[in-house]
Amino acid sequence: ADLVLGEEVFNNNCAACHMGGNNSVQNEKTLRKSALEQYLAGGFNQDAIVYQVENGKNAMPAWADRLDEDEIQAVAAFVFSQASGDLW
Ligand code: HEM
Repeated sequence: ADLVLGEEVFNNNCAACHMGGNNSVQNEKTLRKSALEQYLAGGFNQDAIVYQVENGKNAMPAWADRLDEDEIQAVAAFVFSQASGDLW
């Protein structure tokens, strides 16, 4: 997937709550690897991120109707890459 597109999608749609890989609504549920391993349904993998983006969870809205499939794949790849490389 396209990490440049993913970063753009992230900045336009996700950074409102997840600036810098943080979580301004549920503070412990960051986008860092350790938090994803602990809290993300399905564990730390790109498909699990896609699932949460498409469906939302609790206070996080669903994006399936607001982003294209290629945008969802790209933003999930960006989040996974940032977390994997400890880049946040
Ligand atoms: C959790 C990604 C937009 C609020 C998460 C998690 C991911 C994620 C991967 C799991 C984090 C964890 O469990 O440690 C994204 C992406 C977004 C996006 C890629 C853009 C497409 C937003 C927005 C908000 C938001 C705009 C606020 C309105 C939350 C909340 C959680 C969460 C509250 C915790 C959900 C829970 O487990 O109760 N997000 N997010 N997210 N996100 Fe987002």
